[in-house]
Amino acid sequence: MDPKLHNSIFLKACRGEATDRAPIWLMRQAGRYMPEFREIRAKTDFLGLCKTPELAAQVTLDAQRILGVDAAILFADLLPILEPLGLKLTYEEGEGPRIHNPVRDAAAIDALRDENPRQSMPFVGDAIRLIRRDLPGDIPLIGFAGAPFTLAAYAIEGGSSRNYIHTKKLMLGDAGAWRALMQHLTRQISEYLNAQIEWGVQCVQLFDSWVGCLSPEDYRDHVLPYVKQAIDSVRGKVPVIYFGTGTATLLELMMQARPDVLGIDWHTPLQRGWEVGAKAVQGNLDPVCLFAPREVVLQKARTVLQAAKGRTGHIFNLGHGILPQTPVDNVKALVELVQGA
Ligand code: CP3
Repeated sequence: MDPKLHNSIFLKACRGEATDRAPIWLMRQAGRYMPEFREIRAKTDFLGLCKTPELAAQVTLDAQRILGVDAAILFADLLPILEPLGLKLTYEEGEGPRIHNPVRDAAAIDALRDENPRQSMPFVGDAIRLIRRDLPGDIPLIGFAGAPFTLAAYAIEGGSSRNYIHTKKLMLGDAGAWRALMQHLTRQISEYLNAQIEWGVQCVQLFDSWVGCLSPEDYRDHVLPYVKQAIDSVRGKVPVIYFGTGTATLLELMMQARPDVLGIDWHTPLQRGWEVGAKAVQGNLDPVCLFAPREVVLQKARTVLQAAKGRTGHIFNLGHGILPQTPVDNVKALVELVQGA
């Protein structure tokens, strides 16, 4: 890797090395809260945006440049990886993603196709190459994928869910079908992450956004082995950030998958990350606090910095993604505060 990237403040923190200050990037830093995003988004629907490399690259680059954050994240989404497997995916205005033929039994799982993401998602490779070409030489690019459980839950529920009844019914009721689905998704995720690394990202994040609905026992027995496998598939190539929400009771188990960086949501004190053995910890400002008056935002951000004081390996981030109506000026003020600290 180019030394300018290798020695960037973000990748140093990912490795748990000392830095002069905490690097900062924000989950969903490119999104509807930003007028520049809305302008590009108006040209096409959301999936069209994900699949048009020039536009996806522009969204990534705009967000990094406008905010001045220490890392860029590939503009894409968690779910398009499911389309080549045979799932029919749409994004409904105001409603979020929808899968019209969810997989809920062994027959549907057996029928899933096994495409190689290198061939089925070439637009991601094209976007990564365009981003890497135009991104400042000392700014790392983060790639990502959904973690096996979160992707499985989407594939089974067909959309967001309150109680994950279909998912847990399959997980607890049909061990063979669950294993087949999780193995299939884990292979896809591993191939996809490795492809992103080959295409030019310097770090990857595994999003387990929905894993917080599980008890520690169910996580250990039905999910953790697959997370381990996905992380092992990229180990030593680039740092891996493993992030979930609602994970207070799962963090020790999540660490058994040995991610380089553990993501912490705002329900959990940031220090817990180091206490459970992480060398580097990412988080954990409540994204909703960005709606408060600026002084309050900055005070809350100082509290996060205080929680990391004296530790190496803190990557400042939110505890979950930025929400659509977030005031942009508060986000900019947050970045300035952390970079001036
Ligand atoms: O972080 C970034 O800036 C990179 C891009 C990114 C998006 N989604 C863009 C997006 C990333 C990393 C994601 C990950 C993602 N997608 C997650 C994990 C993070 C999390 O929030 O837990 C999840 C659960 C998804 C699935 C998803 N995609 C949902 C639930 C929605 C609808 C919610 C909403 O805000 O409408 C999306 C759509 C989506 N993904 C948008 C963006 C910018 C908004 C779509 C639009 O423009 O209409």
